[in-house]
Amino acid sequence: MSKMVIHGGQKLKGEVQVEGSKNAVLPILTATLLNSGISVIKNCPRLRDVDVTLKILTKLGCKVKFEGDTVIIDSSTINSTDIPVDLATEMRSSIIFVGPMLSRCKKVKISFPGGCEIGPRPIDLHIKALRSMGAKILDIQGGIIYFNADRLVGTDIHLSYPSVGATENAMLASVFAEGETYIHNAAKEPEIIDLQNFLRAMGAKVTGAGTGVIHVEGVGRKLNDVEYTIMPDRIVAGTYMIATAMTGGETVIKNIIPEYISSITSILIEAGSDISISRNELKISGPKRNKAIDIVRTLPYPGFPTDMQAPLVSLLSIADGTSIVIETVFENRFKHVDELMKMGANITVEGRIAVIRGVNKLHGATIYARDLRGAASLVLAGLVAEGETIVENIYHLDRGYERMDAKLTQLGAMIQRKD
Ligand code: UD1
Repeated sequence: MSKMVIHGGQKLKGEVQVEGSKNAVLPILTATLLNSGISVIKNCPRLRDVDVTLKILTKLGCKVKFEGDTVIIDSSTINSTDIPVDLATEMRSSIIFVGPMLSRCKKVKISFPGGCEIGPRPIDLHIKALRSMGAKILDIQGGIIYFNADRLVGTDIHLSYPSVGATENAMLASVFAEGETYIHNAAKEPEIIDLQNFLRAMGAKVTGAGTGVIHVEGVGRKLNDVEYTIMPDRIVAGTYMIATAMTGGETVIKNIIPEYISSITSILIEAGSDISISRNELKISGPKRNKAIDIVRTLPYPGFPTDMQAPLVSLLSIADGTSIVIETVFENRFKHVDELMKMGANITVEGRIAVIRGVNKLHGATIYARDLRGAASLVLAGLVAEGETIVENIYHLDRGYERMDAKLTQLGAMIQRKD
């Protein structure tokens, strides 16, 4: 089992380069199916979720080549509509293959993402949006859904919640749909804007991303070949910012879009960091001790991102005072808390609310990562803990961070990865 061994106590110092965004690249990779030709995707991060997505594209018949941080995809050779179960169940975002596959091939067979039933990891908003455009579910057997869409027709889609994935699926399904599609209460996340920019670069007619209403005018012709550079990952940037703030270090975080991380910046300033921003980088110096934050709520963009909740809880666990964190986006996203308690944190969780009473220090322990952002939060806790911390199951980190151990080592952390 892969693990990370961390000797805490080093202040992070130096420069770190933020990689391309996971949440932007995943839907863009599925969108390459719409272009029956060549897509060149630059600044593509090397992540497990990217590998799984590329494997699915290969299984569908695409030719895929990874060169440095550039992926070249030829989707002219697609010859299957069957998304393999083992790959679909590896990541929730496999569901965003449905929109492009219905657009391109009129049908697709896919298992429920994560292999669960609709209850715990719902995809109801995706299904409702696709159905309203004319998609049909022909059958559901053993967790496999058979979608079909002889015709996709533009319509008004009203999402009852601004789901990121459902917004992306609806955008992707409507690129070739007859007529116009309006997606109301659309997610406003920056990654939706990146998807729109990519679709427009291929010749699709999409506007409104970043606002609550997205408009797509279906095009009746083939899209063009495309070369596109993925936006930087705002969650990775935020994670290195929190790591710096926690250790009282001073770093320069390069390749950022300041506007997209402003909710993180303002929380860290409130907690005591100094942050100065220039065009596409920022300098952060952490305080001697972070201050508690009265209440933080995770919210859809532009609110504080749910993906930053776990790293922030790590920081608040050693802050001066008591903080309250309310997780409004996902149920049951506090699995890292039990592990932080093994390190001496004082946190009470009641449903979606965590009350964090800051302690003077954490101590090293053997702890278990249970999900991607939780894994990051435990590594961060290890950076400030007294003694040795062993984070087991560290492979979760590889889903969303490119060589985090190497980047932290470069900043002065004492980390060893054991596979
Ligand atoms: C995306 C991000 C993920 C981030 C999340 C929220 C990707 C690959 N992942 O996930 O990192 O944490 O946005 O910013 O981009 N929901 C339903 N029914 C649905 C769909 C979602 O009830 O059909 C619920 C979910 O259970 C969750 C909430 O809506 O409680 C938000 O989910 P959503 O915005 O869809 O997140 P993802 O697209 O899965």
